[in-house]
Amino acid sequence: MEINGSSAIITGGASGLGEATARKLASEGVRVTIFDRNEDGAKAVAAEIGANANYVAGDVTDPEDCQKAVDQAADGGNLRIAVNCAGTGWVGRVINRDGSPHDLAPFQFIQNLNVIGTFNIMTKAASAMATVEPQANGERGVIVNTASVAAFDGQIGQLAYSASKGAVVGMTLPAARDLAVVGIRVLAIAPGLFNTPLLAMLPDDARNALAQSVNFPKRLGEPSEFGALVAHIATNSYLNAEVIRLDGGIRMPPK
Ligand SMILES: NC(=O)c1ccc[n+]([C@@H]2O[C@H](COP(=O)([O-])OP(=O)(O)OC[C@H]3O[C@@H](n4cnc5c(N)ncnc54)[C@H](O)[C@@H]3O)[C@@H](O)[C@H]2O)c1
Repeated sequence: MEINGSSAIITGGASGLGEATARKLASEGVRVTIFDRNEDGAKAVAAEIGANANYVAGDVTDPEDCQKAVDQAADGGNLRIAVNCAGTGWVGRVINRDGSPHDLAPFQFIQNLNVIGTFNIMTKAASAMATVEPQANGERGVIVNTASVAAFDGQIGQLAYSASKGAVVGMTLPAARDLAVVGIRVLAIAPGLFNTPLLAMLPDDARNALAQSVNFPKRLGEPSEFGALVAHIATNSYLNAEVIRLDGGIRMPPK
């Protein structure tokens, strides 16, 4: 797909993987709308990117905020790219150390953010994309959702997180099938361990130990490597309905 001159919406674009994606797509001539609940962060990243960027502050779990963000992205030109990076993790076992059950509230919070948030943007962005002029090959756009290797290699304490990322994986094929008729592709990326603020919270020795657990290369992934894959997915029209692990070959152990 030709992406130069089109528009993109990127959730979670104020930080980490979403920020790197916004920078990469903007460098390829895409007008990027950063949608993040961190208004200051979104504003700062958009300002750094410059003329090709704008932002919307809001919550991906709120359908009205999502519609506003999609409308703003679509207003600027042909909306052809939607990337869902807003999300977070949670640690909690099926039963706690004292034998009490996993609380429902954090489980629901994680599904709401990682699954409903992805659903909100995917559906609203697809609806807008379906109205843009198709390119010569009939293609209108692409949706890239962010799963995690935890969808496949869920570790101890990842019940809520793995459930949410498993749902992101599970939406990929039916969404790609639903949207084939309007020329929109749907893919997911399942990152391994990336050097973002999410992992920066860990002490250095814990981060080094994680890096050593990667097959090759023995380091954390750089957000720019995620952004590069999104740009490749967007431009390579024959990639569809797939979940791509981007993880240096890591297979997560039980803990
Ligand atoms: N960093 C990793 O190693 C890694 C690995 C696998 C998967 N992931 C996934 O990648 C995605 C991005 O992670 P990251 O490391 O870039 O995290 P990050 O914390 O650096 O960035 C996440 C962004 O999402 C925004 N956000 C959070 N909740 C929101 C909401 N309700 N509405 C709007 N914006 C919201 C935050 O403000 C932040 O800017 C997440 O879904 C995460 O689960 C990350």
